[in-house]
Amino acid sequence: MPIAIWDASFSIGVPEIDAQHQRLMALVNEVEAAILEHHGAEIAAKALRTLCDYAVEHFAAEEALMDMDSYADYDKHMGAHMDGTTKALEFLQAVGEDKPVDMQAFLAYLSQWVREHIMEMDQGLGRHLRATGRV
Ligand SMILES: [Fe+2]
Repeated sequence: MPIAIWDASFSIGVPEIDAQHQRLMALVNEVEAAILEHHGAEIAAKALRTLCDYAVEHFAAEEALMDMDSYADYDKHMGAHMDGTTKALEFLQAVGEDKPVDMQAFLAYLSQWVREHIMEMDQGLGRHLRATGRV
């Protein structure tokens, strides 16, 4: 069963970002599938690299909607994107260096991070964008 399932409760009220979140969750599920099929850390890392590349693009799209002066959570939200990206890149580096990694634990962390980030930070951004008439 896919670990990350998008439903309307995740919507932040910005169709472009909702579509990106759906794609992000689909990529989390692809990482899960790669791990569950036991093709080895390198195949899972490849799926994770695809997810990371997409996440970087997606974060940039969200950040382009943030107005530094009026959006109170600007620093917090930027920091959360940075933390999530750093954590994934550290994990990828460990895989690349053949260090022992716990794929399942990382996957659980990743899917929880994505869900919580959308439900908290991104929905807050959605409310701000609607309140300020930016969407
Ligand atoms: Fe975000």
